[in-house]
Amino acid sequence: MDIDKDAEASVQRALFEQVRRHTGIAMNERKWTMLKGRLRRRVMALGLPDYRDYLQVLDTNVEEVRDFIDLVTTNETSFFRTPRIWEYLSEAFLPYWHSLETGAPLRVWSAAASSGEEAWSTAMLCEEFRARQPSFRYTIVGTDISDGILATARAGRYQGRSLEGLRLHHPALAQKYLRSDGEWASVNDALRANVTFRQHNLYALPRDFGQFDLVLLRNVLIYFDQDGQQAVLANVRRAMKPDAVLIVGESESLSRMATDFTFEQPLIYRNGRHNEERDHEHA
Ligand SMILES: C[S@@+](CC[C@H](N)C(=O)[O-])C[C@H]1O[C@@H](n2cnc3c(N)ncnc32)[C@H](O)[C@@H]1O
Repeated sequence: MDIDKDAEASVQRALFEQVRRHTGIAMNERKWTMLKGRLRRRVMALGLPDYRDYLQVLDTNVEEVRDFIDLVTTNETSFFRTPRIWEYLSEAFLPYWHSLETGAPLRVWSAAASSGEEAWSTAMLCEEFRARQPSFRYTIVGTDISDGILATARAGRYQGRSLEGLRLHHPALAQKYLRSDGEWASVNDALRANVTFRQHNLYALPRDFGQFDLVLLRNVLIYFDQDGQQAVLANVRRAMKPDAVLIVGESESLSRMATDFTFEQPLIYRNGRHNEERDHEHA
């Protein structure tokens, strides 16, 4: 019995280590039942007797890592998740950014975009803004570590809860930007023209992304430990223009970390250490 327990503990540690290695996600014993549950079908589908054999497959088969990442990531999302953020974007951020008259398109990064609802929601607000300000242009890049979930994001085709929420809370936007097809609905071509998706691990430097004016990094930092969060924030910052805005998720805050972002309002930060610079100048 004890031997079984020891064996299970060692498999558990090894799997947590694989999760961390491939995604940066920090797991502890409380996640064990969930992780086992997620991997069980895959282990059975491969005809393997147990998780220890699966670890060997992971070590020797690069292709398997892709499926592993799809299985261990949590992809929960929805259109217009956290209403306050979207109000801020349409009423404060977009009008202010447009008033700067940069002459360039607004560049938005939906980092950890999951199945795409966040990127498409942003595109809907940008299209609405463009209807009022025809000179406004924008591009949105959605990225995620999971290739599997990105396939849904690219298809832009939804059904069920995700769609019901959009239709209930934003019926006019749903009507305008989605094409219904039975139980399903797809985003229309106006949105597609400005949104692309690509695979990216937030622990890797965003080398060929260019610089963004706005980054949505929401409901993903919670999966990392503090060192991981700092590393990811430093990476993300490298792809942000000076003064660009960063938006995090409802249960996320940068306040206990040393970063080069300035708090603007709950969930909203600006690239740059404005207060410290100002304090320094006045010292
Ligand atoms: C809960 S979803 C958040 C989706 C959306 N941002 C939102 O707030 O609704 C978290 C996403 O983070 C992605 N993710 C986890 N680790 C990642 C990493 N190291 N790099 C990039 N994406 C990651 C997962 O695949 C998942 O789709």
